[in-house]
Amino acid sequence: MRLLLDRAAAAATRYLENLDERAVAPRTEAVEGLQELNEPLPEGPTSPEVVLDMLDRVGSPATMAAAGGRFFGFVHGGSLPAALAANWLAGAWDQNAALFVTSPVASVLEEVSLRWLLDLLQLPPGCGGAFVTGATMANFTALAAARHAVLQRAGWDVEADGLIGAPPLTLVVSDESHPSVLKSLGMLGLGRQRALRIPTDKQGRIRLDALPALSEPAIVCVQAGNINTGAFDPFAEICAIAHEKHAWVHVDGAFGLWAAASPEHAHLVAGVGEADSWATDAHKWLNTPYDCGLAFVRDARPLNQAMALTAAYIPQTSRREPSQFTPELSRRARGIEVWAALRSLGRSGLADLVERNCRHARRFADGLRAAGCEILNDVVLNQVLVSFGDPATTLSMIDRIQKDGTCWCGGTTWQGRTAMRISTCSWAITDEDVDRSLDSMLQLLGSVPRVR
Ligand SMILES: Cc1ncc(COP(=O)(O)O)c(C=O)c1O
Repeated sequence: MRLLLDRAAAAATRYLENLDERAVAPRTEAVEGLQELNEPLPEGPTSPEVVLDMLDRVGSPATMAAAGGRFFGFVHGGSLPAALAANWLAGAWDQNAALFVTSPVASVLEEVSLRWLLDLLQLPPGCGGAFVTGATMANFTALAAARHAVLQRAGWDVEADGLIGAPPLTLVVSDESHPSVLKSLGMLGLGRQRALRIPTDKQGRIRLDALPALSEPAIVCVQAGNINTGAFDPFAEICAIAHEKHAWVHVDGAFGLWAAASPEHAHLVAGVGEADSWATDAHKWLNTPYDCGLAFVRDARPLNQAMALTAAYIPQTSRREPSQFTPELSRRARGIEVWAALRSLGRSGLADLVERNCRHARRFADGLRAAGCEILNDVVLNQVLVSFGDPATTLSMIDRIQKDGTCWCGGTTWQGRTAMRISTCSWAITDEDVDRSLDSMLQLLGSVPRVR
């Protein structure tokens, strides 16, 4: 075992140390090389060393270098050293985070992390919380609690009786709600298309003048951090309007909620603590390894009532039993990595990480603007939308940037404009990474044929 794990650690370290030298996207030959793994099921055993070597030789080159400092696609966080190391140790522990009895350490670290997170994210200290796979499941989990609470107030027990015959619910989302919110509504039997979609402004923020009149029971979904622009909905105003009508306000803050941890950016989430539930990702801005999402609910009871499970063989205790708050029973012990990330960063380290990445985003925007490119959004956080000219030129630039390999950015359409997205969300990004990426973009721009 020792030799094998030392070998795994050596392979992982070699991989991370070589990241700076390799192209960010895997080379075509490396991706094609994955076919070597597509073999018939072996009839007998293979030594673990051979399996590991095969994985490293064929698999490592076919990865996206998202752990490095020049991956700016989607909104991916890196893995902080402490969180990655804790992930390895926790892997060896092989803990099931379902119950206190199956993993006292996982259970306690969830409790500690939850308390620290509520403090850092400026959420009410008594919130219930769930450690899930990602923001999609966090939206689902928090909205399950919302569905329970608003229907219970209308005299309906949705867990017992389902939705057939339930009082009609008013659901409000925005034009710019992330699709995972709509998917969650669909998974909850509330329908992906039944929600009223509120128009948004030029940055993707809900227009207050377009909010519909609300009547109980109702759930309003707002957003901290638009996937394209990084913009924030006006939480304080929406919460005040919604709460007057006893509506539940849910915040999808997959990455934007972390702005609360930075004194420079906390104003962006002003009023967010007035909501009833929140979803975020630790695998985004807290930089834990995949996968790690977090759901918080102001009143832990509806979360518990939506997720509770009993069986004769499962101990019912007076402590916080993790699986009484999550969709899953058996579960990876994500609280361990969250704890390690928070314990290693501390309050100032997390603030510094958020502020550094926001500075990186502004550095990109300034450099590209100075070169004559158009920045389509107000760069308030860590998202930059760039147009290199007409749609064909922008698409061609995205393709060239991805193939060049110095960095990696994806594309999008923002309010009818074709754009490249730059998202800065990793502890591993340095100013040099930004400058090197900018240089390569501008060099490629010089050689791109303008399509008219
Ligand atoms: C605002 C928002 N909500 C939800 C999600 C989904 O997160 P996950 O992929 O972790 O499920 C994302 C992903 O980028 C997001 O930006």
